[in-house]
Amino acid sequence: MAFELPALPYDYAALEPTISSETMTIHHDKHHAAYVTNLNAAIAKAPELEGKSVEELITNLSAVPEAVRGAVRNNGGGHLNHTFFWELLTPGGATEPSGDLLEAINTTFGSLADLKTQFNAAGVARFGSGWAWLVKDADGKLSITSTANQDSPITDGLTPILGNDVWEHAYYVDYRNLRPKYLEAWWSVVNWDKAAENFSK
Ligand SMILES: [Fe+2]
Repeated sequence: MAFELPALPYDYAALEPTISSETMTIHHDKHHAAYVTNLNAAIAKAPELEGKSVEELITNLSAVPEAVRGAVRNNGGGHLNHTFFWELLTPGGATEPSGDLLEAINTTFGSLADLKTQFNAAGVARFGSGWAWLVKDADGKLSITSTANQDSPITDGLTPILGNDVWEHAYYVDYRNLRPKYLEAWWSVVNWDKAAENFSK
C-alpha cells in the first residue's frame, strides 16, 4: 500500500486571513504531495519497508536501509509533520487550552503567554527551514524544541503536542520575510482540542 496524500480536513480558505487559500493550496497540493510521492519512491527501492507506517519509519530511522534513510527521513518526516499540522489547525475547536493541558502549561512555563513567547522564539531562532514544537517526554513533562528540515521529535522519543512549520513555503506568500509576524498570527488558528488530544496520548 503506497502512502497517500490525505485530503485537507477543511476548505483551503478556512484559515483566512491568518493563512491564505493560496498558501494552503500550494502547501498541501504541491509541497505535501511531493513528500508523499518521494516517500513512495524511496520505499519502492527498499521493499522490505512496505507495510510500515510512517510513524514506525520515523521513530526507528536506524532500521531503515542506509541507501534510502535520508530520503525516508526527509520525505517521511515531511508527510508525518504536514499531516500533523493540518489536523492541528482549524477555524473550529477550542481557541484556548483548558484542563490538564492548561495545568501542565502553567506548571512548566508559568502561563500560556510565556509558552507562546518561548515557542515563537524557537521558531524565529531556527536557521533556515524547520519546525517549532511543544513536546511531551516519556514522563509527561512539556518542553519547547525545534527541529531542522523535516525532522520529527518522535525520532527522539518525544510526543508532539503543537508544531509550527517555519519553512518559508508556510508563510512567504502571506507574510513575506516576516517569520515572527507569522508565528504570532498562527496561534489564532490552533485547535486546542486537537492539542489536548495529542497531550493525552
Ligand atoms: Fe510545510
